[in-house]
Amino acid sequence: MSQKPPADSEDADREDEEEMAISHARAYTAPGVRVFYDRGRCLHFAECVRGLPEVFDVGKRPWIQPGKASAEQVAEVVRRCPSGALHYRLEEGPSEEPEQPTRVEFVSNGPINLRGDLSIDAPAGRMREVRASLCRCARTENEPFCDNACRRAGSTSEAPSRDND
Ligand code: SF4
Ligand code: FES
Repeated sequence: MSQKPPADSEDADREDEEEMAISHARAYTAPGVRVFYDRGRCLHFAECVRGLPEVFDVGKRPWIQPGKASAEQVAEVVRRCPSGALHYRLEEGPSEEPEQPTRVEFVSNGPINLRGDLSIDAPAGRMREVRASLCRCARTENEPFCDNACRRAGSTSEAPSRDND
């Protein structure tokens, strides 16, 4: 007899793990799209403000105004956020597809940036992610994510050299 749980229970687990990724985020809603922002994971890469300054404007309140562009444009710029601080849900449209194959980028003096079908063990539980910046200096107070403690401490961790072997 199979020990595998029924498929709908697997789907429910997956949905719970996807919800975990936005569990600390604040939601900003406009017709057609909802944007989630987790301040604790934002590393100020500024892809959002460069990509759609009319939507992501730190000089305005609220600083995210998704109604100032189309839902698809907002989703496209949210996908650029390397840290996973930003997520979106389209009212009519697919959820974000994980990048394949998984991409790993070592940021000099900073985190490891990942893009792919990620399953991350966080203190609050297992989360399903598509983008994340993980700490590699052990100074973060938001484990396992980078919280810019590396930058504040001036820690140095170079990207691995290609002729290192
Ligand atoms: S792109 Fe992401 S990490 Fe960068 S400033 Fe925007 S929300 Fe923060
Ligand atoms: S790498 Fe940024 S806090 Fe550790």
